[in-house]
Amino acid sequence: MFSKETYIERCEQLKKTVGSGLLLFLGNDECGANYADNGYRFRQDSTFLYYFGLPYAGLSAVIDIDGNREIIFGNELTIDDIVWMGVQPTLKEKSESVGVAEIRPASAIAGYLQESAGKKQTLHYLPTYRAEHQLKLLAWLGVRPGKETPSIPFIRAVVNQRSYKSSEEIAEIERACNTTADMHITAIRMIRPGLRESDVVAAVTEVALAAGGDLSFPVIGTVNGQMLHNHYHGNIIREGDLFLMDAGAETAAGYAGDATSTIPAGNSYTPHQKEIYDIVVNSHRTAAAALRPGIPFSEIYDLSARIIVEGLKNLGFMRGDAEEAVQAGAHALFYPHGLGHMMGLDVHDMENLGEIWVGYDGQPKSTQFGRKSLRLARKLEPGFVLTIEPGIYFIPELIDRWRAEKHLEEFINYEKVATYKNFGGIRNEEDYLITPDGGRRLGKAIPKTTEEIEALR
Ligand code: GLY
Ligand code: MN
Ligand code: MN
Repeated sequence: MFSKETYIERCEQLKKTVGSGLLLFLGNDECGANYADNGYRFRQDSTFLYYFGLPYAGLSAVIDIDGNREIIFGNELTIDDIVWMGVQPTLKEKSESVGVAEIRPASAIAGYLQESAGKKQTLHYLPTYRAEHQLKLLAWLGVRPGKETPSIPFIRAVVNQRSYKSSEEIAEIERACNTTADMHITAIRMIRPGLRESDVVAAVTEVALAAGGDLSFPVIGTVNGQMLHNHYHGNIIREGDLFLMDAGAETAAGYAGDATSTIPAGNSYTPHQKEIYDIVVNSHRTAAAALRPGIPFSEIYDLSARIIVEGLKNLGFMRGDAEEAVQAGAHALFYPHGLGHMMGLDVHDMENLGEIWVGYDGQPKSTQFGRKSLRLARKLEPGFVLTIEPGIYFIPELIDRWRAEKHLEEFINYEKVATYKNFGGIRNEEDYLITPDGGRRLGKAIPKTTEEIEALR
């Protein structure tokens, strides 16, 4: 948590931007995994954390812009809670520590909202992403699940604040990135044939927990890197495999790191692995060097894709004009995801508020395969924190589908591609801050080139 002044300033700015009405903040509740008392790790809603700082379950808050007051709704601990969970500061003390003087019991919020509605005050709330949020809107306001009408001015105002990281946030993110780098260095040092994927996942999870925080998302640690969000960890690592690890730490304050390494099972990459790997590193470095305020991130995505097409042309997998291939979407056979996303309190920062508002400044997205997965396209500005994460994958099912359809065959040498169907996938990912004159990697460097990684084996 930051000092109370940080939260007071954030709320003041939000009130000015939205201008009038009642802003409702839905905190998160505990969530039972298999029964109520055996829950998943509690994670507070990130927008609630941003404005009210309190990482506790069962809270809601309102900012009444017209009445110029903030209220946190929640319950004081009962003696039973204290017996089972120990003593904590009171809700009053917790709220005062983030600059909010007024608290009310959790049960009072429905009446409060109904009174506000009776006065014809405009209610603003954000998109829901948990069933408990939907149920609360149903119970308090009669809004049926699926029929919510989130407030666009509220969304835009929150995005407009959370997109620009303050120096105290950047310090937190850098802490998360340093732990994330330690997780990756641990994996690079330990991987060898005969280990199970889960051995590596366990070791890097330990690094994240030992740093005082947790994971920022479930670890991807797999010899099947061509499956983009693969969370199966039961395979044995074998000589010749490439182990793709996408993993990040979250600090105790809730800020994320997010990085990907692709590590050979043995001491070195095979010549074929190195050829593809070098293209990905070149794409990553070229994209990172292009970061600066004013450039649309979509242009850097195009650049990263052109580097991949040029590299794959040199190896005989692709042909034709690289720019035309990228505009046609031919690169997406190998590079079917975006180049990166905003990062902050969420690993995909503010994704619950809507990609159009976070990544596209309200402009429409492409529907082209590959390009449609680009989460960030807008012009970059100082204070943005984002990832750079190009990759090359050989996805057998996608190759077969496109080949059968002769899809974009003017750009793709399917005969050669078919010989690589067992190759797997390669991705590199690190996190960057947009500065007034360029971009700066956050946290210490993760070994990235084949030489740097082989040196640690
Ligand atoms: N961790 C998922 C991603 O890199 O976006
Ligand atoms: Mn990642
Ligand atoms: Mn990422």
